[in-house]
Amino acid sequence: MAEITPYKNQDSKKDQVAQMFDNIAFRYDFLNSLLSLGIHKGWRKKCIRFIASKKPKNILDVATGTGDFAIAAMKLNPEKIIGIDISEGMMKFGKEKINKLNLSHTITLQYGDAETCNLPDNSIDAITVGFGVRNFENLEKGLLNMLRILKPGGQLCVLEFTTPRKFPIKQFYDFHFKYITPTLGKLFSKDDRAYSYLPESIKAFPDNERFTSILKKVGYKKSHFHSVGLVLAAIYLAEK
Ligand SMILES: C[S@@+](CC[C@H](N)C(=O)[O-])C[C@H]1O[C@@H](n2cnc3c(N)ncnc32)[C@H](O)[C@@H]1O
Repeated sequence: MAEITPYKNQDSKKDQVAQMFDNIAFRYDFLNSLLSLGIHKGWRKKCIRFIASKKPKNILDVATGTGDFAIAAMKLNPEKIIGIDISEGMMKFGKEKINKLNLSHTITLQYGDAETCNLPDNSIDAITVGFGVRNFENLEKGLLNMLRILKPGGQLCVLEFTTPRKFPIKQFYDFHFKYITPTLGKLFSKDDRAYSYLPESIKAFPDNERFTSILKKVGYKKSHFHSVGLVLAAIYLAEK
């Protein structure tokens, strides 16, 4: 299968993804809320409830972007949250939000690639990834590196879009992603490709069962998923 990339040029997917998120960072939060009518916030909160029972103290938010998942994870009362991302542009806005909310005593955002970052083995209680895995250049490499970093028994929580297959959600979704998302995305972000890459990359991403089995294959235990938002997205949970 051809690799889905933002700008379809010669650069690596990783470079293109970082460039795209740098380009749209100034509008990312606004467009997230506009295009999803705000429901993405509830999905992150639900993820946090799923991982709450183990009371994680050290949390890693991979592909943290503008930091919304890291900020939501404050509900768990952790000692430390590290957010990593390959887009400095996205994290610039995240850092501003975290400072404004007076959360920099607990949350640190730093450059880091899910696939190669060298945080110590067995050092993190829980890892969250919101709408990030779909953008990895090498999905399995990223999942394996996160498994290495998790403590035994530590939890992985991935939130990712799903392509709905049934009437009428499929028809609504197709219309939204064909006409509304690219038009509003282009208008507000000024990036011609970012909001066309979004549905393309969702379509190319493994379906719920397949992603659950990839998690199992790379070595996670108890991998399973919960659909959210009328199957528009799914929360995947797994353990080391
Ligand atoms: C759609 S944004 C999601 C941001 C945030 N997690 C949220 O829930 O809103 C995807 C983010 O993944 C980041 N990303 C993509 N590949 C990555 C990788 N290999 N390592 C770390 N971050 C990555 C992008 O730079 C971008 O900021």
